[in-house]
Amino acid sequence: MKIAVAGKGGAGKTTVSGTVARALARAGHSVLALDADANPMLGVSLGVGAEQTDLLLGVRQGLETGEVEHEPTIEGMVERFGADAPDGVRLVVASRIDGDSPGCQCCGVSPDQLLRELEDGGRTVLCDLEAGLGTILRLAPGNADVVLVVANPAAKALEVARRAVAIAADKTEVIVLANRVRDDADLETIRAAIPDRELVVIPEDATIARADRDGVAPIDLDPYSPGVKALVALADRLAGAPVPA
Ligand SMILES: Nc1ncnc2c1ncn2[C@@H]1O[C@H](COP(=O)(O)OP(=O)(O)O)[C@@H](O)[C@H]1O
Ligand SMILES: [Mg+2]
Repeated sequence: MKIAVAGKGGAGKTTVSGTVARALARAGHSVLALDADANPMLGVSLGVGAEQTDLLLGVRQGLETGEVEHEPTIEGMVERFGADAPDGVRLVVASRIDGDSPGCQCCGVSPDQLLRELEDGGRTVLCDLEAGLGTILRLAPGNADVVLVVANPAAKALEVARRAVAIAADKTEVIVLANRVRDDADLETIRAAIPDRELVVIPEDATIARADRDGVAPIDLDPYSPGVKALVALADRLAGAPVPA
């Protein structure tokens, strides 16, 4: 199964990606987590720590300066630009490199290509996309089995989410996450902007905010906090979905 996570910057993509990846791994799935954000922070939400997350970015940046050799294969990328995260999740930083050589598998490759070309081969591939609509626009049917669109009650995040849903729904299954919901009014705000869609509610959660501040994974801080629990339940639902042929 291939899952892409989209939304405006700050909507909660990385929190969702990291926590759902860990929860899927805990449920016994082999999980490959791709960080496609230009400012890759997925390592922190996955629980590898800020230092290791920085290190991975450093290796990636070494491509730009010529200190690191390019990688001709995608599986080689998974090996060389990756790290092992808790619960057996494999994390790979796949952010775009500036001044890339087009066609180069390790730096010219875009997240939609990466999603297309990575064989899921029994594993679950989960991609924390760059902020905005770019990848969603380029996504071809079949690149992702599910797109998780992360919305929150803020006007700009809602507008990006609304557009992402409209674009992605023509291509694949879409699940809308109503993140940072404090009360019924927040939920109504999201429902008004994205009507006629089931909303998976992720409540505002002090544990998630504290995890971010401390540079740890929310699921390690408190797996039973309301926001984390909602994301674990979402992972269970994704795991139960039939894998398309
Ligand atoms: N449900 C939530 N409750 C509290 N804080 C949250 C919640 N979801 C996200 N946040 C906080 O919002 C900020 C942005 O989240 P992040 O996952 O980094 O967004 P993105 O990856 O979309 O830019 C972080 O500080 C994060 O801790
Ligand atoms: Mg992010």
